[in-house]
Amino acid sequence: MNDKPKTKRPPKRWKRVLKWSVLTILVALFVWFEIAYWRSTNDCGKAGAPTNPMKAIVYCDYGVANLKLEEIEKPVPNDDQILVRVRAASVNPYDWHFVEGTPYVMRAMGVGLRKPKDTRLGVDFAGTVEAVGKNVTQFKPGDEVFGGRGGAFAQYVCPRATRAVALKPANMSFEDAASVNIAGITALQALRDKGKVQPGQKVLINGASGGVGTFAVQIAKSLGADVTGVCSTRNIDLVKSLGADHVIDYTKEDFTKSAERYDVMLDNVGNHSLSECKGVLTPAGKYVLIGGGGAGDQGFLGGLGKALWAMVFSKFVNQQMGMMMADANHNDLSILADMMQSGKLKPVIDRTYKLEQVPDAIRYVEQGHARGKVVITVE
Ligand SMILES: NC(=O)c1ccc[n+]([C@@H]2O[C@H](COP(=O)([O-])OP(=O)(O)OC[C@H]3O[C@@H](n4cnc5c(N)ncnc54)[C@H](OP(=O)(O)O)[C@@H]3O)[C@@H](O)[C@H]2O)c1
Repeated sequence: MNDKPKTKRPPKRWKRVLKWSVLTILVALFVWFEIAYWRSTNDCGKAGAPTNPMKAIVYCDYGVANLKLEEIEKPVPNDDQILVRVRAASVNPYDWHFVEGTPYVMRAMGVGLRKPKDTRLGVDFAGTVEAVGKNVTQFKPGDEVFGGRGGAFAQYVCPRATRAVALKPANMSFEDAASVNIAGITALQALRDKGKVQPGQKVLINGASGGVGTFAVQIAKSLGADVTGVCSTRNIDLVKSLGADHVIDYTKEDFTKSAERYDVMLDNVGNHSLSECKGVLTPAGKYVLIGGGGAGDQGFLGGLGKALWAMVFSKFVNQQMGMMMADANHNDLSILADMMQSGKLKPVIDRTYKLEQVPDAIRYVEQGHARGKVVITVE
């Protein structure tokens, strides 16, 4: 006699229902994706000839080869905006993420599955105010300003007066001022707000010679830190000249193998594992990841994969480890403007290109070896 307790099995009918439900959901998702993909479009070819034209960089399809200088309608400021005649703009890795539509998750998050939804490019700008909306009290025509606004690779932009725009210090060129917004604000917020850098603390900046890194070395010094910059051989003198107390040449030495410990590590490159980075932190150290990954190795998640992993990883270690997204705003731009006016901060400009050369500028930044900032001059 078999007296084993009988295990209850789900009836076969339920198995069938489950199987068909899963299949139906998968097919529905596939159909939804196909429809969304092929319906993904933008305003290219829909606008007539501009009545009041300006030149701007436009891309109707993903890829640097699709960037074009075109005449489009000059923007008109609304009541809360200012009209700025752009004199210079600067390039960030942010721009090539949009040009390439990578990491691909960006496309699913609203950037445009098949084609870019927003066909304009560029964020950082500096220029002269030409007109102001009726609610604007902060600026007047003739003011020289700098900041960030989508579509900055153009002759004109219309930022909101209360957002990421500030008066340009008189002693700064438009090129210098245009290089500040994304890189300068990222460095400031990463060190001051996330890293909470205190005088005398040891700060490591991985990727000290790039757009963010060159601002970060100077800002960390002005916060009173003992700064170590990581860069390649050709950039050692540059990083030292920005005030770094120590420089590690990554082509000769792996900082994660050193016995030195840091209170704050700003990671602009993301080329070491989280456990390796944790290994160089003091017991109460902070690791601030801002990005990483080149234009050719973004895949589906790009640097976001590491950021998500950091959220989990940090739960199991004493140190604070996580990613930071910069938030461009008027107050921080004004702080950076004051630092530049007083000579505490000096943008490093690698190269300048003309507006029609934006594709070359993007290709250069995509290589991942810019020394400071790449600037676009606009006539
Ligand atoms: N989270 C945010 O809000 C935010 C904001 C701004 C930027 N980002 C991200 O932060 C990253 C850096 O931005 P960025 O504007 O500074 O870029 P970038 O100007 O293109 O920086 C390139 C720099 O990285 C250096 N580099 C390359 N490989 C390195 C390595 N193995 N070790 C150390 N340095 C290395 C290069 O130096 P060599 O030529 O000497 O190799 C070059 O100076 C990007 O991934 C960007 O997308 C994020």
